[in-house]
Amino acid sequence: MDEINELLIPENTLLAAVENDTVIGWGGILPKYNGNVFELHPLVVRIDRRNQGIGRAIVAALEDSARMQGGLTIHVAADDEKGNGETSLANVDMYDDLPGKIKSFSPGSHQSGFYIKLGYKIIGVMPDANGVGKPDIYLGKSLR
Ligand SMILES: CC(C)(COP(=O)(O)OP(=O)(O)OC[C@H]1O[C@@H](n2cnc3c(N)ncnc32)[C@H](O)[C@@H]1OP(=O)(O)O)[C@@H](O)C(=O)NCCC(=O)NCCS
Repeated sequence: MDEINELLIPENTLLAAVENDTVIGWGGILPKYNGNVFELHPLVVRIDRRNQGIGRAIVAALEDSARMQGGLTIHVAADDEKGNGETSLANVDMYDDLPGKIKSFSPGSHQSGFYIKLGYKIIGVMPDANGVGKPDIYLGKSLR
């Protein structure tokens, strides 16, 4: 049974931002591709503490951890799933000039704008991942 447990428990790293014994944000990374790549998931900052640099600090700490564990790339999957879509990749034909659409990408209010500020670039898109016209947007950054 121990071995099954070991297989079921992912080798993830979770970090929390704590203030006065209270968690105000937290995030995690999960190794993929034999540890060459780390997926950043989840990430959240308490709603009343957003836009104060806490998310940036958690991501920087997660990147350091991934790098120390031998990661070469870190990536995040950011769903554009709300309403009619927040980004310029919502409700468009992904099979028509996707490179052009990525080049002229506009995040609107979507969290991809946060990752772009932190140096992440769009490295892929999954069309209709969350329903018709609602893509999942993959953003990545080199740890090398
Ligand atoms: C996304 C999230 C983690 C950002 O955390 P945060 O603590 O508010 O971010 P920071 O204050 O560290 O922001 C760093 C920079 O990104 C900018 N930024 C933050 N959110 C942004 C957004 N949605 N779009 C564009 N830029 C954004 C900030 O203005 C800041 O820019 P500056 O350095 O020029 O001042 C937070 O908004 C959150 O918890 N959202 C809900 C959960 C979520 O979407 N998680 C991500 C799942 S993929």
